[in-house]
Amino acid sequence: MLSLRGLLLLLLAGATAAFGVPPSNETARVARFVAHACDWGALATLSTQPQVQGQPFANVFSISDGELSKGTGVPYMYLTPLEISVKDLQVNGNASLTLSLAQTSYCKDKHYDPQSPLCAHVIFCGVVEKVTGAEEEFGRKVLFNRHPEMEDWPAEHDWFVAKLNIANIWVLSHFGGIESVSPEDYFKATPQN
Ligand SMILES: *[C@@H]1O[C@H](CO)[C@@H](O)[C@H](O)[C@H]1NC(C)=O
Ligand SMILES: *[C@@H]1O[C@H](CO)[C@@H](O)[C@H](O)[C@H]1NC(C)=O
Repeated sequence: MLSLRGLLLLLLAGATAAFGVPPSNETARVARFVAHACDWGALATLSTQPQVQGQPFANVFSISDGELSKGTGVPYMYLTPLEISVKDLQVNGNASLTLSLAQTSYCKDKHYDPQSPLCAHVIFCGVVEKVTGAEEEFGRKVLFNRHPEMEDWPAEHDWFVAKLNIANIWVLSHFGGIESVSPEDYFKATPQN
């Protein structure tokens, strides 16, 4: 007879299957999956701080790539000109964003170290750009869905919606080395089956 615990385990197994990371060799799909699963990432800018001027400067940002049911692959962010990294972006918008399944239950459950390629992670490079019009509305909606606190961030800080306009993508999802994925393949890929 199936115990309650057994039933719970079955349900959990179902949830893991639903979490379904794409096959590790399908790197464009893995990248889309990671971009959708992550709620935040580390963004490296070229610093404008006098002590480290022109040097890489990594900082945490909340992101959303779309509705929970459907990602777009585009990392949207909610930024203020007062923020230290945003000051860098105003001088040079080129940045690198890294996202990792280490922030999900996936790597923890499987005991994958964050630095292991099996704990899939992605490195994006591109330009952070303010978005306007319908895209701004969309970005705000999908950011607020995932990060309800954003709605209460102080209005006088002039928050605006931005995205990383992705130019280059690198994916670590299996042993044998990092792979690059073209933005074209990335945006074509379907993260879910
Ligand atoms: C990934 O590997 C599977 C089986 O090992 C193979 O069928 C599939 O074509 C591969 N996909 C890519 C994109 O290489
Ligand atoms: C940003 O990077 C692109 C491509 O790598 C380069 O062409 C451009 O000059 C860079 N922008 C700045 C402000 O350095």
